[in-house]
Amino acid sequence: MNNKEVVTKIIFDVVHDDLTLDQVEYLLETPKSAAHGDVAFPTFSLAKIYRKAPQQIASELAEQIDDTAFEKVEVVGPYINFFMDKKKVSHDVLTTVIEQGEHYGDFNIGNDDNVPIDMSSPNIAKPISMGHLRSTVIGNSIALILQKVGYQPVKINHLGDWGTQFGKLIVAYKKWGVEEKVRNNPIEELLNLYVEFHEKAEEEPTLEEEGRAAFRKLENGDQEAVDLWKWFRSESLKEFDKIYDMLGITFDSYKGEAFYEDKMDEIVELLEEKHLLKEDRGAEIVDLSAYELNPALIKKRDGGTLYITRDMAAALYRKRTYDFAKSLYVVGNEQSYHFKQLKATLKEMGYDWSDDMIHIPFGLITKDGKKLSTRKGKVVLLEEVLNDAIQSAQNQIAEKNPSLENKEEIAKQVGVGAVIFHDLKNDRLNTFDFTLEEVVRFEGETGPYVQYTYARAMSILRKAGFTPDENKNYALDDEGSWEIVKFIQGYPEMILEAADKYEPSVVAKHAIRLSQAFNKYYGNTRILAEDKQQEARLALVYVVTVLLKEDLHLLGLQAPERM
Ligand code: ARG
Repeated sequence: MNNKEVVTKIIFDVVHDDLTLDQVEYLLETPKSAAHGDVAFPTFSLAKIYRKAPQQIASELAEQIDDTAFEKVEVVGPYINFFMDKKKVSHDVLTTVIEQGEHYGDFNIGNDDNVPIDMSSPNIAKPISMGHLRSTVIGNSIALILQKVGYQPVKINHLGDWGTQFGKLIVAYKKWGVEEKVRNNPIEELLNLYVEFHEKAEEEPTLEEEGRAAFRKLENGDQEAVDLWKWFRSESLKEFDKIYDMLGITFDSYKGEAFYEDKMDEIVELLEEKHLLKEDRGAEIVDLSAYELNPALIKKRDGGTLYITRDMAAALYRKRTYDFAKSLYVVGNEQSYHFKQLKATLKEMGYDWSDDMIHIPFGLITKDGKKLSTRKGKVVLLEEVLNDAIQSAQNQIAEKNPSLENKEEIAKQVGVGAVIFHDLKNDRLNTFDFTLEEVVRFEGETGPYVQYTYARAMSILRKAGFTPDENKNYALDDEGSWEIVKFIQGYPEMILEAADKYEPSVVAKHAIRLSQAFNKYYGNTRILAEDKQQEARLALVYVVTVLLKEDLHLLGLQAPERM
């Protein structure tokens, strides 16, 4: 039971004729200042019921309250302030975490149900963008958080590997491409070819038709087209995998858009059967005016299918394959309308499970104040960003801890972790700017700061040769440790909030605040002083390491023990 629950019960025992348990809990406040205790009960709203002044109610209630479980219960004006028994609470909390370890804060609300998470999903033959990076790291963290509360996440990389653009690319490659160059530098070369195609097409409009024809060939299984497409795809994947390796992120499925090529006829047939398809200037659409949305374009005039048609086939495939409890799409904010149309179209078809499809949008990243866009060639290559971050971590380690063993590996964990953490620490819908210096700082609200705090705590434990023992009576009653104990107590609730809101930033913020509280404690307290609370202080340090490590894990960061 947390402090509020304890207080709720005790007050309820006295006011149960007039208030419900929930009402009592709702009224409770957490005082800003420690001088007013840990939990406060304001009596204003009882004035009407008891027809008395709140001050008087407070003192009368306080007299009837069983205060044996508290350090003290104090009346200040209309408030009853409860001071928890620090020794008892800290003992309970420390013992619980020592017993449960990394499973502290686990839940089983997910019932082991499958939750496919559509994440990362870059487009073949193009560089992976900062937006795709966001989708990758946010999706990965949500998967870990959902796993912690009892779901089975299925991480799906819905690659953009189908569509007319591949017809264009095939044409461009056959006209101007050089095999050798593509082999050496696939993404950049393919992107150049694609850009070249668009430049030339402005003067030679027939190119566009050639591109469409090439895509039709590809759709019809023409050997040459298929071989080229496969080659572009596998070269691109090799490049993407380099980045996923650096990030330490894996997928359960790489079924991209192409996978649904032979599954779209069924969608069109189903729509026809349900009389939902309408002709509009030669194209086939589904009317969504009942949802106050523009019609969904299902089939183009030339018979070609579209992004949304493939997403419909994918949604149905996922429902059949995973029988999901929910199906998540971690995709930038700019595609919100697409996902509204997607869900509405499936709903029109009578698929009520479309209500369980959840678009998890996120904001845009700018770099040094500017928007990033592939088309204008202003690509920020992610690999470069990650390598720069690693380099910067290396420099800082060389300066701060030159004798550190395994420097390269740790610099990688810190540099990559810095980029991931920076991405996750803000509410995901916020837009933010990316400046390398800020990302890799060891101080401030950064990943390296949390990792550094963890390593520092680990070094204290090593120095003391401390091993936790769940049967010992660790108990603390000083203000410094009390602040940390309260954080630890709130951990399970924090996890639930993160899962409920699909918000890794909740975990990241917790990690920062816990680190700050710990560093303050470390600055003010002689942890290794040889007195009778030394072991209890070490147990507290140990529990902090358990939570920081779990926070880092849930965000997808490594927790090096030395740094
Ligand atoms: N490939 C798309 C893009 O880069 C993202 C795909 C998102 N997932 C989906 N099922 N539509 O814009």
